[in-house]
Amino acid sequence: MMKEMEDYLELMPAADGDGIRRLRAREEARLARPKKGFLRFQEPWQEICALPRAGYSDFTGDKVIIGRRKELADDQSTVLHRALRAFMPWRKGPFSLFGIDIDAEWQSFYKWDRLRPSLPELDGRVVADIGCNNGYYMFRMLPCRPAAVVGFEPMLQHYYCFKSLRHLAGEAAEQLFIEPMGVEQIGLYPESFDVIFLMGIIYHRREPLTMLQQLHRALKPGGTLILESQAIPGGESLALFPERTYAKAPGVHFVPTAACLHNWLTRNGFKEVELISQTPTTTTEQRRTDWMTFESYADFLDPENPALTLEGYPAPDRVIFSAKI
Ligand SMILES: C[S@@+](CC[C@H](N)C(=O)[O-])C[C@H]1O[C@@H](n2cnc3c(N)ncnc32)[C@H](O)[C@@H]1O
Repeated sequence: MMKEMEDYLELMPAADGDGIRRLRAREEARLARPKKGFLRFQEPWQEICALPRAGYSDFTGDKVIIGRRKELADDQSTVLHRALRAFMPWRKGPFSLFGIDIDAEWQSFYKWDRLRPSLPELDGRVVADIGCNNGYYMFRMLPCRPAAVVGFEPMLQHYYCFKSLRHLAGEAAEQLFIEPMGVEQIGLYPESFDVIFLMGIIYHRREPLTMLQQLHRALKPGGTLILESQAIPGGESLALFPERTYAKAPGVHFVPTAACLHNWLTRNGFKEVELISQTPTTTTEQRRTDWMTFESYADFLDPENPALTLEGYPAPDRVIFSAKI
């Protein structure tokens, strides 16, 4: 059997290993403080870590499957169910965890299916998934046999949720790693990744252009960026800057057209920029479920005209670009 890699940094000679290790130590010390906001996700994670790892998993279908019901005793299954509920709201999925079905807000396989025909080679590659949430797409990458996939996720709810799933999956997911960092820390990783996925992030950033430059530097020569975003419809190179909120979300800064994103990429030095898909967001893909009980896409639209958001802006498409350096 191959030895499990202790630290993916051994695959990244150009990364600032000392800086990354210093940051990790700082984060570890911060998270060791007994704060309520930390414990609410650390405790369910620890409960899950006391459960056995799965003997069976399958990452090839729409639903990420880790473990079968018969692998756990009844009391263990009860503990798992309670711990998983502590990670609500579940945004990305679906999952089946030892027979417990988690129907998340997003049917994330829609995005994966749009992306799959244009995926760059992942076999043996070093990959980043920035803003990886609970790692749904990282699990979906595993059948492509990457050398390592590093998730970056600063929100503790998602960070500990991923760590829980990673524990349950055991050896089957040993190429997956996570850092409690944001895209702001990507400067520590010069020429380190063959492929970077940046999905659902760029419209949340105040400095999308600077971020694209930093991602360019984090790719190895010949590397690929997969960029997924909300976009407003239209053929001109324009970005909407919402007055306050966009589809009720306060943290949205620039919502570009696909043409504008193309322009941002080429003006930041990316080559072979290709629009892989452009589709409207739908209430089938994003909706309220038993595992995400808050408002969802249908509540963000003008009830009279679903082509508009509640604020009267054009409703979002989802676009995916592939770009090389
Ligand atoms: C809209 S979700 C997208 C999740 C996933 N990438 C997808 O495409 O479905 C945005 C994710 O980015 C994470 N995030 C928040 N701040 C971030 C930051 N500064 N850097 C990277 N990710 C961040 C959020 O916690 C969340 O998981």
